[in-house]
Amino acid sequence: MYSEKVMDHFNNPRNVGEIENPSGVGTVGNAKCGDIMRMYLDIDENGVILDCKFKTFGCGAAVATSSMATELVKGKTIQQALEVTNKAVMEALDGLPPVKVHCSLLAEEAIHAALWDYAEKNHIQIEGLEKPVSDISEKEEEEEY
Ligand code: FES
Repeated sequence: MYSEKVMDHFNNPRNVGEIENPSGVGTVGNAKCGDIMRMYLDIDENGVILDCKFKTFGCGAAVATSSMATELVKGKTIQQALEVTNKAVMEALDGLPPVKVHCSLLAEEAIHAALWDYAEKNHIQIEGLEKPVSDISEKEEEEEY
């Protein structure tokens, strides 16, 4: 079923909480399962992600993927954070059962939403960042697993 890493991040999620006055915050949900994730980023003037916290109202796989995603983006530049795709998060967790793959999309999209918020606040454009959707179930239909 679940890898040891998934169980570990589900039982002891890293970086749970909020960041006061975040550089960027993004919330995404999946209307199909009703799960919601919020991601907070603290980004310094050089575009390095100093801190990342999350809150997830969702299933165990959503908690584990958001926990791993925060670990992966911490200390990275914005461009490097864009490479933290749902596939990268799943690989870092040693995989997810096929029916739970969609949960990892929530983590990727929440990071994008927080980066989008940061870009809007600072009136900049982040190359390669597309406008995130607030309901990822719209996106899922385009993806094939
Ligand atoms: Fe909804 Fe996992 S079942 S995110």
